[in-house]
Amino acid sequence: MTIEAEALRVLAPAKINLFLHVGDKRSDGFHALQSLVVFARMGDELALSPDRDIKVVASGRFAAGLPPAGQNLVHKAARALAQHAGITRGAYISLKKNLPVSSGIGGGSADAAAALRGLARLWNLKVEHDVLRQIGETLGSDVPVCVACRPQWMEGRGETLAQVESVPAVQIVLVNPRVGVATKDVFAALKDRRGTGQPRPPAMRTTGDLVAFLKDTTNDLEAPARAVAPVISDVLREIAAQPGVLLTRMSGSGATCFGLFGDPDDAARAALTIGEGHPSWWVSATATTPVLSAALA
Ligand code: C5P
Repeated sequence: MTIEAEALRVLAPAKINLFLHVGDKRSDGFHALQSLVVFARMGDELALSPDRDIKVVASGRFAAGLPPAGQNLVHKAARALAQHAGITRGAYISLKKNLPVSSGIGGGSADAAAALRGLARLWNLKVEHDVLRQIGETLGSDVPVCVACRPQWMEGRGETLAQVESVPAVQIVLVNPRVGVATKDVFAALKDRRGTGQPRPPAMRTTGDLVAFLKDTTNDLEAPARAVAPVISDVLREIAAQPGVLLTRMSGSGATCFGLFGDPDDAARAALTIGEGHPSWWVSATATTPVLSAALA
């Protein structure tokens, strides 16, 4: 049997900020945020098997955009977990990079969180998700939310997470113009912001409930990201022009934007149309994973 065949497989789903409000800069230099974060049914794929050292080997459409081995977040996550556990074990980690790099949908953060979850199992460590989130916080603001990969309400710089009672699954089309945007550049260009006073939504049963809540919110990083990478305006315009789209917005600090749809056929058609019109863009039609409270399920 090959290493790949017996490996432990973990999905690193794409993270989507359905809205993102920014508050004041904190004393540690990070901005206070509020966001409703959900996860897609698609993402990067990790395969982990025991090894003497920590090795990360990337493949897939976006492997070329990754930082060199020792500096990539999967490698850092593996080292941080081994250090936390006081062990010297290694792992061979094969990372299939399906998500564009530096793109506002998790990418490196989702990979790091998936590595933490997977390695905790591979190395038989009894570590709670809370501990993995704390380790994740040292790697990047978005890593803690990616540990559980289910809908969450995010505050602080990304480390304060709360369950949301009920968020339905929704059809989503993700579009990235293949321009990497550095998060710190977008924050540096930020002018207007909504602040962090957004009340949490009530339990949402339907796509209509979710869209109604989101219509009163925004992504404060959209305007500065469009200033840094003007092609983002073209992406938003293309998505907004598709039949059946219910909401168009950018995720995280960009450049990936998304459209929410009620009908999977509309979403599939929109992805096809946008992809045909812009062959160099990355386009994916997928759905988000829901969380349903027992009372509503
Ligand atoms: O933590 P992460 O690596 O994602 O952050 C990248 C940069 O984005 C930070 O160095 C900071 O300039 C900015 N940032 C911020 N406030 C946040 C998250 C990120 O100002 N909550």
